[in-house]
Amino acid sequence: VVQIGTPDDASAALRLGADVLVLQGTEAGGHLLGELPVAELLYAVRTRHPDAVIAVAGGVATGTDLARARSAGADGAMAGTVFVPTAESMAHPLFKRRIVEARADDTVVTGRYDIGWPARPHRVLRNALTEESRRLPATFIATTRVGAARIPVPRYSATVPGVRTEGRIDEMAMYCGTSCDRVTAQDTAAAVVGKLRHEYEHELSYEREGGTWTAPSNR
Ligand SMILES: Cc1cc2nc3c(=O)[nH]c(=O)nc-3n(C[C@H](O)[C@H](O)[C@H](O)COP(=O)(O)O)c2cc1C
Repeated sequence: VVQIGTPDDASAALRLGADVLVLQGTEAGGHLLGELPVAELLYAVRTRHPDAVIAVAGGVATGTDLARARSAGADGAMAGTVFVPTAESMAHPLFKRRIVEARADDTVVTGRYDIGWPARPHRVLRNALTEESRRLPATFIATTRVGAARIPVPRYSATVPGVRTEGRIDEMAMYCGTSCDRVTAQDTAAAVVGKLRHEYEHELSYEREGGTWTAPSNR
């Protein structure tokens, strides 16, 4: 299973033996592999590779999103942002709360978080560092624990804040996709999947009954 962000990388992954392609659009949270929105990437890759097994990543947080991706030609989807606030997630409590509160406009694609992940833009929640035009010194702003060791985190590190991180959490990279518009509660992972499945099945029965699909409401 290989995640890619361009049509050429999709072809290369298939040539090298990938069984499943995950097409990551620019709506996705975290580091971005390409520059196309997910619908455009899906159209381009599906046209080139009609028989490939394709999942999309970016913009999927509900069963309605999944149904829309399926009707656009995807076989499935991969989601990240919707699982960040779940009970099982090791994300920092502030990171979880921010995702639930955020709207798509609160996210930004930035090259700022390049320490540990050079030359790769990330979609993150806006903060003082993403909005600041100057680059500040990369002094340590937090620490995070790995086993018994305390590891310092420099400003502009690509590390996300976890439950073991202490310091200026606000300035850290909080990876978040535009689907945060539709992430409105903290729940267990099982409840998130159950709800998504229920919504998806509802969409399918609606389609079977001859309804037309309408865009998901944001809340
Ligand atoms: C908190 C978080 C961490 C992520 N970490 C990785 C990672 O380590 N490697 C990777 O290939 N993708 C990573 N991603 C990106 C996902 O693989 C996927 O493309 C993305 O979550 C899909 O978009 P969505 O977040 O809007 O659902 C991460 C995403 C998030 C939100």
